[in-house]
Amino acid sequence: MSEDDARRRDAEDPGYRDLFLVPPAQGGKYQESAYFAGNSLGLQPRAVRDNLLIDLDNWAALGVEGHHEGDRPWVSYPEQLIEPAARLVGALPEETVIMNTLTVNLHLLMVSFYRPRGERVRILVEESAFPSDSYAVRSQARFHGLDPDSEVIRTTDPLGYLAAEGDKVALVLLGGVNYLTGELLDIPEITRAAHAAGAIVGWDLAHAAGNIPLKLHEWGPDFAAWCSYKYINSGPGAIGAAFVHQRHLDDPSIQRFEGWWGTDPGTRFRMDPVSTPPANAGAWQISTPPIYAMSAIRTSLELFDKIGMPELRARSLRLTAYLESLLDGRTVITPTDPERRGCQLSLRVPDADGLSKRLSQGHGVIADSRNPDILRLAPTPLYSTYHDCWRAAEAIGQEI
Ligand SMILES: Cc1ncc(COP(=O)(O)O)c(C=O)c1O
Repeated sequence: MSEDDARRRDAEDPGYRDLFLVPPAQGGKYQESAYFAGNSLGLQPRAVRDNLLIDLDNWAALGVEGHHEGDRPWVSYPEQLIEPAARLVGALPEETVIMNTLTVNLHLLMVSFYRPRGERVRILVEESAFPSDSYAVRSQARFHGLDPDSEVIRTTDPLGYLAAEGDKVALVLLGGVNYLTGELLDIPEITRAAHAAGAIVGWDLAHAAGNIPLKLHEWGPDFAAWCSYKYINSGPGAIGAAFVHQRHLDDPSIQRFEGWWGTDPGTRFRMDPVSTPPANAGAWQISTPPIYAMSAIRTSLELFDKIGMPELRARSLRLTAYLESLLDGRTVITPTDPERRGCQLSLRVPDADGLSKRLSQGHGVIADSRNPDILRLAPTPLYSTYHDCWRAAEAIGQEI
């Protein structure tokens, strides 16, 4: 397929690139990068800077009064973002909280939901779980006096494992979209199977949130957590978010690590020595929220709300299918069924690190590598273009 064909597709299906700042290309003949690393760090929406300045100006103008005054009082800043955050993942607002970063949230949720008892002590993760998740679950097992080498089970077949050994599983913790392969797991089906086996189920949605439509409330997992720096485009180290299903929100027996931000906001400033957590996911908050880090989330969620996940997913399917067609003949390890993947395609290539460097320096194509042999390309429907896809395929063709 030709460059003209890619340009024609962009004219017909333009996406939202103008709303983003695209880094200049480090090499090659085009001015802008062809950016495929939104599965690692999303690009900066242009409106972030203005939103951040508003928050900085409020600090300058209001000082400590900014906690309670102005049009975005800091005490309720996370709550101001809850409705769009919940919409993005198909959750109820009371099931959603914006706080901390992803691995921290997984730990806080495991404090509540990984409660090994008797024979039911195992934690089930996927074979290629993200290392941070693996470290987190192993340390949780140790925290309960268990041996992670025998009680943390890595599997490529969670449904099979649950059918065979489900009565020994306390917690299933899986990535909704696998970071390495780009495979989208059947979240509702695995959630059902885990519950049928009597286990708790949580999802790491780092590579799913903002990438595929989610219906967390309806699908019914016990908890989930995700970050905002990938597809949610909220910047490096952006604040993450978490979901706790409604059925757990009013359970006084639930264990939690507490801090003053998790007590009832109506009485928080009475400074009582004993907390009274609200019946919502905000009860999992601990500390004062970092306001400047939240400006970017505000901007980004406004974009998702304006455009809507269904439209983004439809464009994502078109873009990824186009890229796939250009990569025909190469070894793509991501499922070919569009319903079993998000936007990312993972290729098996020789010397992935070297290739990714050559793509960037020689062609201005930013992909990323996972050693030794995986190159990940994530055309994101907000700012990637058909021309980017064409450039990536051309550059790969020249390099390997
Ligand atoms: C699937 C997955 N889980 C966990 C993490 C770790 O996230 P954090 O550094 O925000 O804790 C990442 C980071 O990229 C990830 O991709």
